[in-house]
Amino acid sequence: MAFFRAFASQLAISQHVLQKTPCAIAIISRSSSSATDLKSLLAEKIQEQQVYVKSFREQYGSKVIGEITVDQVYGGMRGIRGLVTETSYLHPEDGIKFRDFTIPQIKKLLPKSPGGNEPLPEGLFWLLLTGEVPSAEEVRSVSKMWAEKAEIPPHVVTMLNNFPAHLHPMSQFTAAIMACNTESKFAKAYADGVSKNMYWEYTFDDVMNLIAKLPPIAATIYKNLYRNGSPISAVDLEKDWSSNFTSMLGYDNPDFTELMRLYISIHSDHEGGNVSAHTVHLVASALSDPYISFAAGINGLAGPLHGLGSQEVLEWLTELHNDLSSDATEAQLKDFVWQTLKSGQVVPGFGHDVLRRTDPRYTALREFALKHLPDDPMFNLANNLYRIVPQSILALGKIKNPWPTVDGLSGVLLRYYGMKEIHYYTVLIGVSRALGTMASLVWDRALGLPIERPKSMTTDGLMKLVGAV
Ligand code: MLT
Repeated sequence: MAFFRAFASQLAISQHVLQKTPCAIAIISRSSSSATDLKSLLAEKIQEQQVYVKSFREQYGSKVIGEITVDQVYGGMRGIRGLVTETSYLHPEDGIKFRDFTIPQIKKLLPKSPGGNEPLPEGLFWLLLTGEVPSAEEVRSVSKMWAEKAEIPPHVVTMLNNFPAHLHPMSQFTAAIMACNTESKFAKAYADGVSKNMYWEYTFDDVMNLIAKLPPIAATIYKNLYRNGSPISAVDLEKDWSSNFTSMLGYDNPDFTELMRLYISIHSDHEGGNVSAHTVHLVASALSDPYISFAAGINGLAGPLHGLGSQEVLEWLTELHNDLSSDATEAQLKDFVWQTLKSGQVVPGFGHDVLRRTDPRYTALREFALKHLPDDPMFNLANNLYRIVPQSILALGKIKNPWPTVDGLSGVLLRYYGMKEIHYYTVLIGVSRALGTMASLVWDRALGLPIERPKSMTTDGLMKLVGAV
């Protein structure tokens, strides 16, 4: 468990022995796991981490870790360290690290489907949840569990089939997820007065049930909106999660399924401060059940400054393509980018609040595209922009982070395989984001994280605080 080891070495403590070290940190033995299933393994990890965090807080709980400026308070709390998220960390240069593993590492280490090259999202979920790289057999057990739990409650099917066609797919998605909370074991256990140290177990059960239902919910929305309501295919207990999902969507190209495995893996988690993850954490901190907490996060994902970005990039690229065609010269492209920037708009798909290099999620998709669709005109256009846009933005002299994000390419790939319904793209990110946010939620309950309640200020109050009045 890389995050655990790194942390332990920072504190100069052995992770193999139950001891009180000179700095009074207690660590229980990390005996080799005898767990055969995900929940039992998780129970072991939770027990260890609870002791670990308790000991850390006992010794370092009052240590100051930063200062906050007035601009940060007005500026969306950028850079303020105020959350604990165990599943991933966003490094400004290296990009997202899932339990300390970079995207190239997860692509190499996580189990693949037979003959496939892309990581199976089930394996990534296992990693996010436990900090351990699972075996192929462990991944298969998750695929099977999710396939077995895939059935959507009948009232949710009725609801989905009665939504008007002009209701945005993200609104349909979030409404259906909320309506699944009739199934919440956590809500029932809480109402029955279950002990706090059992919360994570019911949360875990809900999380597994919820994730399993997302592909059929998402596919039903797709079929209703774009395929005349034709029924989704039945789940196959032998197939992996992404393979079942693409079949339900009505796609049979194995390369599209491979893309989906990669797409879902890389979009799954982006540490705790992004809008969807933070929203899930905040809402769930009130002990709202996993279904309604996740739906809240999906509402945040539906915003144009967050998950709707992938839709906006393809709209912009299509406009560019229509105006200039795909073999536009570098000078023409530069001019188009300048016109966009000069009119006060941003170039969609470029620039990130935290990242200071090209998003490795973008790089992973670019590698996929170079292998599978090197001659696609839209990909070539995006690839040319990759060379041109950062320099143009830097030339403005105001923005330090002009590098492409994952949104800059994701829609191009989906479109290539025939998924041209751009309003649907964010739903796919929503399916994926469940993996990270739900794994985090299990840990929130396991660590007993309390209801979130930061202090807000009025402008007058802030002025008094800094001596301005
Ligand atoms: C994400 O994937 O959540 C986005 O890149 C936004 C963010 O990290 O704030």
